[in-house]
Amino acid sequence: MRLICAKNYQDMSRKAANLISAQVILCPESVLGLATGSTPIGIYRQLISWYEKGDVDFSKAVSINLDEYCGLSPRDPQSYSCFMHQNFFDHINIDKKNTFVASGMGDFEANARELEEKVREGGAADLQLLGIGNNGHIAFNEASDHLIAVAHTEKLTESTINANARFFEKKEDVPTMAITMGMGDILAAKKVVLAATGLAKVPAIKGLIMDDVITTQNPSTMLKMHEDAVVVIDRELADAVGYRA
Ligand code: GLP
Repeated sequence: MRLICAKNYQDMSRKAANLISAQVILCPESVLGLATGSTPIGIYRQLISWYEKGDVDFSKAVSINLDEYCGLSPRDPQSYSCFMHQNFFDHINIDKKNTFVASGMGDFEANARELEEKVREGGAADLQLLGIGNNGHIAFNEASDHLIAVAHTEKLTESTINANARFFEKKEDVPTMAITMGMGDILAAKKVVLAATGLAKVPAIKGLIMDDVITTQNPSTMLKMHEDAVVVIDRELADAVGYRA
């Protein structure tokens, strides 16, 4: 696992975006595993700006998103499908037919199977972008005594519901279930880029970068087993976990 310490959020976004744009420039047909949440918004903004300048071309890229809330339609502004269109897909030249976000409507188990099929059909992601939950969750693979390898439905923990409530009008509106890629799907990616910022992530990032323990109680620690995982954090977070470059 390699660690990149950025000056601040903007610098972190730029550094992570650099890794993604390098991937797409080197291999225009790349399969990108994409993430949602507030952390990657700056990364998407940076990539959009480079696309507008003609520096990166997404026309041949394929994308698969990590997860989706159960019970939200793709038109719901809180759905991850809507997030991806608003924050990225609508502003670049990716072929929308080559993007996939699991459906959060109808038969959730069937939707999870469909996500798993997509992951297998497209092959392992060339680059998987990740954020991290306050409790170390990755996508919606929650801290637990076990993790699931393949795409599945997951009951969200109180910690995750509370953290994500800021995007909804009231806490009761936060879905309690989600469809997520499994940890095996994520670890199968050829390259992983995890971005983190903000002091709420201190316990999770401490577990990820400051000790040698791998535990399902902090799913992000599984990345310690990955051959090509890059963690990009900002100085404030690095200082708070006691990391000295
Ligand atoms: C959600 C998503 C994760 C994301 C996490 C942190 O739970 N499923 O993929 O990493 O939120 O989001 P944020 O970046 O907003 O802190």
